[in-house]
Order: sequence, then structure tokens, then C-alpha cells
Amino acid sequence: MKHLLKLLDLSTQEILDILNLGDQLKYELKHGIPHPRLAGKSLGMIFEKASTRTRVSFETGMYQLGGHALFLSSKESQIGRGEPIQDTARVLSRYLSGIMIRTFEQAEVQALADHASIPIINGLTDFAHPCQVLADLMTVREHKGRLEGLKLCFIGDGNNMANSLIVGGLKVGMQVAVATPENYEPDASVLDFAQKQGGFSLVRSPLEAAAGADVVITDVWASMGQEEEAAKRRKAFAGYQVNKELMAVAKPDAMVQHCLPAHRGEEITADVFEAHADEIFEEAENRLHAQKAVMVQLMG
Ligand code: CP
Ligand code: NVA
Repeated sequence: MKHLLKLLDLSTQEILDILNLGDQLKYELKHGIPHPRLAGKSLGMIFEKASTRTRVSFETGMYQLGGHALFLSSKESQIGRGEPIQDTARVLSRYLSGIMIRTFEQAEVQALADHASIPIINGLTDFAHPCQVLADLMTVREHKGRLEGLKLCFIGDGNNMANSLIVGGLKVGMQVAVATPENYEPDASVLDFAQKQGGFSLVRSPLEAAAGADVVITDVWASMGQEEEAAKRRKAFAGYQVNKELMAVAKPDAMVQHCLPAHRGEEITADVFEAHADEIFEEAENRLHAQKAVMVQLMG
């Protein structure tokens, strides 16, 4: 594993290794055991979109590992003024031990990896959100004691979260069911992988996807960069809400995960959100532990 660009690139074992190391680093942190595994190393964090969790968890994580992280807003660096990505990649490779990037196009993350001589971590693109899904899998395993054989359903937009959950879930042996409206399906490359892998279904009916699910997951209807489509999307996704009626068809002990930020009254009701708040905020916390594991694997 040289980079973390998308979960499609990782083997099942590489995913499980990250989850296991994440669990260990979480234990060490909770028990006051220092783990300066990246002492003297620096991570650059390029943001072309907003962030709360990703920025804070990477920066804090790097500090806890004995290293240092720098926030690079594209607007305030030469990236925003059009410096080619291949030049940025080669310059930053001479200062840093790794780069985390949050941007729009997956191709930009790939280009950075193609031209850098240091590990690149995808901190969210329109296509994928691998760090988030590693944290989600870690949280599910913590709560359920296993991943293999569990049913995960995703309700809503076939976006970056849907794409990464399908790939991550199937790779660790979960059954994955997705319900999206027409024209909002997951990426074709992901559906191609899912169909070959097996254990996957894509349906229109949210209740069908959620039936018997162990884990119910949703995400915003309008992702970053789609703000202008918000009204149109609210119409298209009415009926794709995680609410009491939907939870009633899932397993009685089903978990709920949401990468956050959440829009109560849109993709999830306030009552379902609050009933599962412990699991959702554990998921947010696990961003820290899972990403520390990723950084140790790539930059250690
Ligand atoms: N879930 C997530 O990636 O959150 P941020 O956008 O706050 O980083
Ligand atoms: N799908 C959302 C996830 C945010 C963490 C977005 O891309 O905006």
C-alpha cells in the first residue's frame, strides 16, 4: 500500500490491518501509552472544500503520533492561482512525509499520487471518502464484534460515501444493499466491482434495502459543490429518509451511521439521529484512530 486514493485499490487484508492498528492506537491513546510513531514527520493537508472532522482529526492525529501537520487552503496557496498539480506534487514531496488532499475530482488526487514521491491520502473527493469508511467499519466492528456476514444498507444519494461504503463493505464480507432514486446511482466503476464481487443489491425502495439490516447508513442529499441543486435534490430524495418507519424493518438492534454533518428532517429524522447519537459520534471519533493507522502504515 503506497497511497490511500480509494478503497478499490486496497486488499481485504490491507483494510483489516488498518482497522486492527486503529483499534490498537485507540487503546494506547485511552490508556495514556505514548505512540510517537511518526516523530519528526510532517503531513501537508490540502483543502479545496470545507471540513471540520477531517482537518481536526488529521492534525490532532499527527500531533499524537509525534509529528506535525500543516493546513494548506487551496485559496491561500499557489494551487488556487493555478500552479500545476504535478509541480505542487514535486515541491511538496521535498518537504513533507505525506499529503492529505480534499478536492473535487478523483483525477486530481490520482495526478498528485502520480507525480509525488510521498504517500497521498484522499480526504474526500466527489468519487470517494475512504478515510470515513475505514472509521465506519471500525465503529461497526466495535459495536457488533464482527463485520463478515452483517448486512449494511445505504439510503439516499449514490455519492462518495455510497461508493466507498459499497467497496469497503463488500471487501470485508458484508452484504451491501443500496437504495437511491433514479439518476442518483453510485458510480459505474463501483457497480461493476460490486456485481463481480457479489453480496450486493441496488434497489429503488428504501424499505427493501433496509429490511433485516444490521447497519443503516445515510448521508446528505446535496454534497459539497452541489449547493445549487439542493432544492431539486430535496424533491428527488423525498422518501429516502432514515426515519422510524425505515428503522422498523431493520434488525431490532440495528446501528445507524452518518459521516456528518447531518441535516435533520432531510436524510435523517431528529429522533432517529438522537437515538443513535452514541454510535454516530463514536464514528466521528474513530476518524482519528483509523486515520492515525493509515498514516502509520503509509508514512511509518
Ligand atoms: N465527515 C467528514 O468528512 O466531515 P468533515 O467534512 O467535517 O471533514
Ligand atoms: N457526501 C458529503 C460528505 C461530507 C463529509 C459531501 O461530499 O459533501
